[in-house]
Amino acid sequence: MKDGFGREINYLRVSVTDRCNLRCVYCMPPEGVSLLDHDDILRYEEILAVLAVAKKLGISHVRITGGEPLVRKGLVELVRGIAKMGFQDVSMTTNGTLLADHAELLKQAGLKRVNVSLDSLRPDRFSSITRTGRVEDALAGIQAAIRSGLRPVKVNVVVMAGWNLDEVADMARLTLNLPLHVRFIEYMPIGPSEGMEELSAVPPGAVMAEISRKLSEKLELCAAPPGAGPAETWKLPGAKGTIGFISALSKPFCHSCNRLRLTADGKLRPCLASDIEVDLREVLRNSKGDSKVRKIEEAFRRAVLSKPRVRQLWNRESQARPMCQIGG
Ligand code: 5AD
Ligand code: SF4
Repeated sequence: MKDGFGREINYLRVSVTDRCNLRCVYCMPPEGVSLLDHDDILRYEEILAVLAVAKKLGISHVRITGGEPLVRKGLVELVRGIAKMGFQDVSMTTNGTLLADHAELLKQAGLKRVNVSLDSLRPDRFSSITRTGRVEDALAGIQAAIRSGLRPVKVNVVVMAGWNLDEVADMARLTLNLPLHVRFIEYMPIGPSEGMEELSAVPPGAVMAEISRKLSEKLELCAAPPGAGPAETWKLPGAKGTIGFISALSKPFCHSCNRLRLTADGKLRPCLASDIEVDLREVLRNSKGDSKVRKIEEAFRRAVLSKPRVRQLWNRESQARPMCQIGG
């Protein structure tokens, strides 16, 4: 599918739940967010019905997101169903804390690869950033992903001044001996962030400077790992993995955007930074047969054609939905 600005849209991020077992400071308020009713969340067969149409329309890459996808029961079976449909790439974004028990099963079900969030290597700090999580669990998840042959394994680090900027060199060092692709993500001011004014974005240059200051090795530009999104990629000499920067604020990548999002409650979102949504759930539940397929196709076309050329400025008030409800 081509959008109104000539971009080929071939990537769908599917949020399977708005629930999460963590409460990351940049994503949720401590008490969590108001949750969708179970009935409002798409059933697995509804997600598969959407994906069947999406595939026909040219979606070749699917990413499963949340909330935390692994808190939803039966997820491995959904992955198996999606993998059977023959997409070029099926991946998942997870916080990793439940991954140790699932990595092997997910690989067997046909998942190709995972992106795991990891914002600190220090137990106390990891627990403060996620408010509830244990770093050991996330690290065990990452190790299980490597052991199970999910490739590439990417590690997402949201860099926040005053929280974890001083750890970026340690994160970079992980790539020396492990086949990990560590990506430093610029914090985006979206979601419920009252009281979080101290959370400020760190531009990629500052992350780079901090790494160079602490490591004697010099970073070299290199090819991006497969399935690369908008990351600029570097490598330490002799390292098994790579380092990337995803800087949506300082270097917007709208011009090469190829994605749509499906929210857990069945809305197509053309752009993360816009509130435009096209409802699919109503179509899924109230139409049948050919007419249903045709209406799903129409909804995709409408969503694709309403993709803005570039994102509007992030606007906290307009972002009624936090990341966990849109799917990262
Ligand atoms: N800014 C940047 N990244 C974010 N994520 C969640 N909220 C934000 C935000 N406000 C990231 C998580 C995870 C992915 C799902 O999105 O760290 O890696
Ligand atoms: Fe959960 Fe991811 Fe949000 Fe953290 S960022 S609370 S892991 S959905």
